[in-house]
Amino acid sequence: MARLIGLDVGTSGTKAILIDETGAVLKSAASAHTLEVTQPGWAEQDPRQWRHAAFDCLEQIGLNDVDAIGLTGQMHGSVFLDKNGEVVRPALLWCDQRTVQECSEIESAVGAERLRNITGNPALTGFQLPKTLWLRNNELSRFQQVERVLLPKDYIRKELTGVEAADVSDASGVGCLNVRERNWSTEVLLDLELDPRLLPPVVESAEQTGAHQGIPVAGGGGDQAAAAIGTGAVTPGLVSISLGTSGVVFEANDGPPAYKTDAVHEFCHTNGRWHRMGVMLSCGGAVRWARDTFFGEDAGWDDFNCEAERAPAGSEGVLFLPHLTGERCPYVDPSARGVFEGLSLASGRGHLARAVIEGVCFGLAECLELMNPGQKPDVVRVNGGGASSALWLQILSDVMGCPVETLETDEGPAFGAAILGGVAGGVWSSVSEGVEAAVRVKKTINPSGQDYSLALERHRSLYPVLARWRGANS
Ligand code: XUL
Repeated sequence: MARLIGLDVGTSGTKAILIDETGAVLKSAASAHTLEVTQPGWAEQDPRQWRHAAFDCLEQIGLNDVDAIGLTGQMHGSVFLDKNGEVVRPALLWCDQRTVQECSEIESAVGAERLRNITGNPALTGFQLPKTLWLRNNELSRFQQVERVLLPKDYIRKELTGVEAADVSDASGVGCLNVRERNWSTEVLLDLELDPRLLPPVVESAEQTGAHQGIPVAGGGGDQAAAAIGTGAVTPGLVSISLGTSGVVFEANDGPPAYKTDAVHEFCHTNGRWHRMGVMLSCGGAVRWARDTFFGEDAGWDDFNCEAERAPAGSEGVLFLPHLTGERCPYVDPSARGVFEGLSLASGRGHLARAVIEGVCFGLAECLELMNPGQKPDVVRVNGGGASSALWLQILSDVMGCPVETLETDEGPAFGAAILGGVAGGVWSSVSEGVEAAVRVKKTINPSGQDYSLALERHRSLYPVLARWRGANS
């Protein structure tokens, strides 16, 4: 039986799992990272910490009889390396919002429509490309030392194998990938007077990129595309939703992407296809915030869920907009903020707790509506921390109006990365074959008949009013 490692360079830590070819998890290891927030809106990490964590996790798992390794990680980050492969400064992360000016620079140098036609996406503060421009605009002497800019997991690949490469799914989140051709757009880079040699070669996700101690290492995938493999969302028609710190609605598509709206990312998938996704920045993050704030940091999830469950559906008119860290989908608005609306003397913390869960589900429904206007999914598959809350899953099923399925193995991106490792290592001939062998549905939650359509409509109409109000009062 083949043994495969999936290694996930996440934001809060690195995680590795060892699975067999039935998808059973044999071992797991984790090592924490620290986040540096030196100014509001900034977020940095030292890539050497990731390196230490990755080697530590691999040592905890052990490499004996391992057939392949697959890599995944937080997307969009910028690892700046000099000619000796040394880190020039801490990496700017996906959640760093400092590059508003650089995004405008990209939009005007390339042209807004041309950029969307080539890359499928607008310039977004989270993406890697504006971070490189920020370095040139703000730390010129450091920029002049940079020979290569890598994504987080690709830095770990270089440290493990000596190979420099970016897989198509993660490269899609840099901001200068021609998503149709699945390669860098030299025209975009040259418009910005950036040397295309700053970026590593692009590979397919299930392709082998060198070896670590003789074990083949797969191209791997960005964390969302890898997590989607773990839910089976590799062919069109199956929507997956990740209920993690951020909430992600994800669907594979067959043809090359057609840009529709700034709020939905059009990226390459890990299996030669493409995918569309809406990233809601505060999902589980908002629910955790509500628990810590209203129930205390030591409160357990049981207390929170129990009181939320006792509040009636619709939270007696209390609405919550979950934009605690700005928003990317359903609206691109780094300055959006969270809101409770409809409070009365009858509103207790149970109402607030339930309103937060409902608000997050309404936001996810709005993301899906942007991706597939007017279409109700047949089923939605969920993963991430929120998938362990029965209440959350029931509300999601009622709001979406379709069954919600959970997965037997819910190990997030590391699981999908291990499957990519299996394809690169020759265990399976395709990602779909790996999914067939390793991904199984655990439980189905059907709609209860509770109608949320009115509350969803109230939720949908609230943000535009507040955005206008904020615009007039900022
Ligand atoms: C995806 C995104 C996050 C990060 C961190 O676009 O920004 O999922 O990859 O997990």
